[in-house]
Formats: sequence, structure tokens, C-alpha cells
Amino acid sequence: MSKRVAIFISGGGSNMRALVASMTGEHPARPALVISNNADAGGIAWARAQGIATEVVDHRPFKGDRTAFESEIAARLAPHAIDLICLAGFMRVLTAGFVTPWQGRMLNIHPSLLPKYRGLDTHARALAAGETEAGCTVHEVTPALDDGPILGQARVPVLPGDTPQTLAARVLEQEHILYPAVLRRFAQGDHTQVMLP
Ligand code: GAR
Repeated sequence: MSKRVAIFISGGGSNMRALVASMTGEHPARPALVISNNADAGGIAWARAQGIATEVVDHRPFKGDRTAFESEIAARLAPHAIDLICLAGFMRVLTAGFVTPWQGRMLNIHPSLLPKYRGLDTHARALAAGETEAGCTVHEVTPALDDGPILGQARVPVLPGDTPQTLAARVLEQEHILYPAVLRRFAQGDHTQVMLP
């Protein structure tokens, strides 16, 4: 039976769209739910238009109470019999209380070659450090931020004159290739790494 995937987003959701587009035919998984902490996330309207179930849990009313925010997310997930969670540009930190029960069943994409540049502003930091290559990583989510077993990486060159924006765009193109490739493999129970190119 197909694995049921919940995708968590905060913004445009281009990675979510790439994941959804990949889950057809003999793919071992199907998109079952898209969750956003932001009602205005462009990706939510798109997912709804595809006929995918959506949920919005605005984090702002839960300010200072991450446990209550995460309990609400768990409650929205529960009716959907979810097997796997893919974080795809979900810009809220999830605590151990949420992550631990899902460990081994939750993936994240991060726009750097982990373990370098955990956290935010990855492209600006890579440029400031004079890196000659950059990229993205898909990893299993553990309670430590942007940590956890690496399931795949894609590399791009840093070019003369790059800005954080031009580098981000080059990396994002690779994200759209890497994340679907990793999900396909992971959903089959194969945890070997996908290394691109
Ligand atoms: C992507 O570049 C993703 O790697 C990054 O946010 C962007 C979301 O774009 N994620 C993080 O920075 C997580 N810390 P998208 O909404 O178009 O997929």
C-alpha cells in the first residue's frame, strides 16, 4: 500500500510542488496532506487546487507555547493516517516532543551542504566564507536543528558575482531534483544516500 505523506510548508512551497508532482504511477507514496503555519502561503492554495487536503495552524496565537502549537499540529495530522512527514521550507523549529515520535519517518530539506551552515541565511554565510561550492541536503529530522542522518546532497558551483539570491536560485533547482529522488528511495525503505550530481 502507498505511504501517505504529509508535507509541511511556510511559503511558496516549490519543493512541495516538486514532491507532489513526483508521487504518481509506481511511486511508493502519495501526498495526503499539506500543512502550513501561514494561511497566506502560496503553496496552500496550490495544494487545495490539486485536491490535496490542507490544514493551517497559525503559530502566532501560540506565541511562547511551542508545546501547544505542536499539539495542534499533531491533532490535525491524526485523522490522515500519515506514514511520512516531509518538511519543505517549514520555517518553525520543532521540539523533541513532536520530533521524537516521528523520528525515522520525518525528512527535511536544508539549503546548505550540511553539516555546514545549519540555521538561517545559509547562502549569505557561504558567500561570506568564500565557499567555491554550495548545495542542499535532505536529512532525517532529529531533535537537534538541521542535524540527523544525511539521506542525500546536491552540489552546485559558486560563480563569480553570485549574490545570496542568485546562489539560492541555483540551489533551489537542485532541491527540486534531490528531494523527490530521496523521498522515492526512502519510501521504499532504502536509506542509502542520493548524491548529485
Ligand atoms: C528552500 O530553499 C528550503 O531549502 C528552505 O526554504 C526554501 C523553501 O522554498 N528551507 C529552510 O531554509 C529550512 N530551514 P519553497 O517554499 O519554495 O520550497
